[in-house]
Amino acid sequence: MDNVFIRTLKSKDHNRPPVWYMRQAGRILPSYNELRKQYSFRELMTTPELAAKVTLLPVEDLGVDAAIIFSDILTIPTAMGMDLEWTERGPVFHNPLVDAQNPHKCLSPNSDKLSFVYSAIELVKRQSDVPLLGFCGAPLTTLFYMLQGTSLKHEFPEARKFIYQNKKETELLIDAVTEFSIEYATQQINRGVDAFQLFDTHAGLMPLDIYKEMFIPAVRRIADAVRSKGIPFIFFPKGLGAGLNLVTPDLCDFVSIDWQTSLSQARQLVHPQVGLQGNIDPMLLFAPKEEIISCMEKNYKPFFANNPGWILNLGHGVMPNTPFQNIKYLTDWIKATNWI
Ligand code: CP3
Repeated sequence: MDNVFIRTLKSKDHNRPPVWYMRQAGRILPSYNELRKQYSFRELMTTPELAAKVTLLPVEDLGVDAAIIFSDILTIPTAMGMDLEWTERGPVFHNPLVDAQNPHKCLSPNSDKLSFVYSAIELVKRQSDVPLLGFCGAPLTTLFYMLQGTSLKHEFPEARKFIYQNKKETELLIDAVTEFSIEYATQQINRGVDAFQLFDTHAGLMPLDIYKEMFIPAVRRIADAVRSKGIPFIFFPKGLGAGLNLVTPDLCDFVSIDWQTSLSQARQLVHPQVGLQGNIDPMLLFAPKEEIISCMEKNYKPFFANNPGWILNLGHGVMPNTPFQNIKYLTDWIKATNWI
């Protein structure tokens, strides 16, 4: 597969950075919003034909260099037996683990419950040559949702209290989620994903020393399983800040940088053999087109000139209601501009 995304992941020559956007399929595409009038998010995700179709919409409508399978990080808790409802106000687990006695005993992981994801991957691979990313949530982020039950309290207070009050139980839960994530990632790779991204959206909510001691080893286990199958592993530890110095080649191939940390700061912290992805502020896409391009000219073009091991992306998922014309304009500019 000779594509700028795969070439960059393999550190081969290329004359521009590859581009894809976190959360590129839902939220912003007019074609997605049309489909949402007819189907619920759950229906789109769990019907393989529809999930495959939505996965490829950003490739068709925006011309991005990679697709990410249309699913969610909360498929794992669901397939471990938790009862999830997608409401107007986001996902809600009706029995959050903070309320359970011996929560790890409530879980019953069953990979067959994720077969809709595996079938969607097979369909995408049959329909398109575009590189396909598989993904799951990292143990910390996934566990925060399982413990708290909702993302309405943005800082997951009960989940964080639980971790301090129940260290042994937390370790058992991390282990269970990690084991199941390995099974899930392995099955995605068996069905044909070309790279794998681990989303640790809430990494910045734990003190760095605890993150390092309790959660990085779990990330490494998933990374090892993915990389042992010959697939590049991209890690997105949002909010890690100065902790980016923990990111070394034994942990991941690429690290996705949030919008708070500049790419040049990140480049100094992260081990030189690890590539970078990111980190455009999703809010920039609400600015006038000229300002978007001037930010690219000023910050990103010079960065690429000195750092070819870079995948262009946002510093977090694309925001709902982002003007489609702006993201389309940016994508066209990225592909047409002279980067070197
Ligand atoms: O491009 C894509 O959209 C790819 C698929 C994808 C989704 N979720 C679909 C989705 C991916 C990669 C995710 C990851 C995800 N899900 C994360 C990690 C990345 C991040 O944004 O921080 C997290 C924390 C979740 C959990 C989640 N899913 C929440 C809190 C919500 C509700 C609020 C929201 O984001 O809309 C979701 C719903 C969700 N996941 C939607 C989509 C397309 C919106 C559903 C709809 O159409 O109404």
